[in-house]
Amino acid sequence: MHSPTQLQEILEKAIPQIAYPQHPANLYEPSRYIMSLGGKRIRPVMVLMATELFTTDINKALDVALAIETFHNFTLVHDDIMDNAPLRRGKQTVHEKWGINNAILSGDVMMVESNKHLSKVDVNVLKPVLDTFNATAQGVCEGQQLDMEFEQRDDVTIEEYIEMIRLKTAVLLGGAMKLGAIVGGASTADADLLYTFGENLGVAFQLQDDILDVYGNPEKFGKQVGGDIIANKKTFLHLKTLALAHDDEAESLTSVTINQEEKIDQVTHLYNKYEIRNLATAEMDKYLTMANQALEILAVAEEKKENFRTLVQQILDRDR
Ligand code: IPE
Ligand code: IPE
Ligand code: MG
Ligand code: MG
Ligand code: MG
Repeated sequence: MHSPTQLQEILEKAIPQIAYPQHPANLYEPSRYIMSLGGKRIRPVMVLMATELFTTDINKALDVALAIETFHNFTLVHDDIMDNAPLRRGKQTVHEKWGINNAILSGDVMMVESNKHLSKVDVNVLKPVLDTFNATAQGVCEGQQLDMEFEQRDDVTIEEYIEMIRLKTAVLLGGAMKLGAIVGGASTADADLLYTFGENLGVAFQLQDDILDVYGNPEKFGKQVGGDIIANKKTFLHLKTLALAHDDEAESLTSVTINQEEKIDQVTHLYNKYEIRNLATAEMDKYLTMANQALEILAVAEEKKENFRTLVQQILDRDR
């Protein structure tokens, strides 16, 4: 059995071997660029980990893992356009480097590349794999749409926020687990339990991402710290503060008149005043507990579950 770190190493070897066409260079260069910038590779690791619960032959799942990582990277390229983000993994975003139109099309072709990876799975599992992948990808689009719509709204509830992050982020972690389980030959019940584990972990993961967006160390985070504040994102931190703050304080949360640095300072100050980071961490813990409950029920050997606990810990301890 492989540790999450060993699986990451397998992926780091496999990813540079993906052969994208050479021409037109400006279509494929961004794919190579974004895929080579690293990232934590959490989702493809989850695919392989789920497969390895049910079979020793993880090679069966490598193409699905690559499909998921390629899809994830495609969503990042388009997400950075939508979020007007300058930095990704410590480097220029694709649209900053190649322009918006090029970033759109390169993202599109990455979705095609994901499908090409997927079509290589064993024909016996092709249909459930495609169904799960498509449901997942559609969920991500729905979540991204809500995320953008929420930027313009001032009445978003915490419940709506959780549903939005479930869609934009958590279904992909759930989907990665489920896909790995399907390829490994799991029963439907086990595949569904793993989905539940991944989905709850995914909600916690996005809450953590929102915390890091404010409190991350700029040297390590790799993205623009304060980006969510500037974009008026309705994160848990924003919504909780809005509920607790006085009216005059709440104004700085939504203000568009002050300059960006000043707004980040003011809003972070408010978050600190209301100890929002602790509240967000407590919310994260709720979802981690639910993830762990799903893991407890799963009928596999205890030592196999240990790898999942290691992964959860790595995610919690991350600084990017
Ligand atoms: C970023 O995902 C997008 C979110 C869902 C928060 P990751 O934090 O997994 O990004 P990389 O792949 O490690 O760079
Ligand atoms: C990302 O949410 C969700 C998807 C990419 C689908 P964010 O917009 O918070 O992700 P980052 O912070 O840019 O990585
Ligand atoms: Mg973003
Ligand atoms: Mg976004
Ligand atoms: Mg974010």
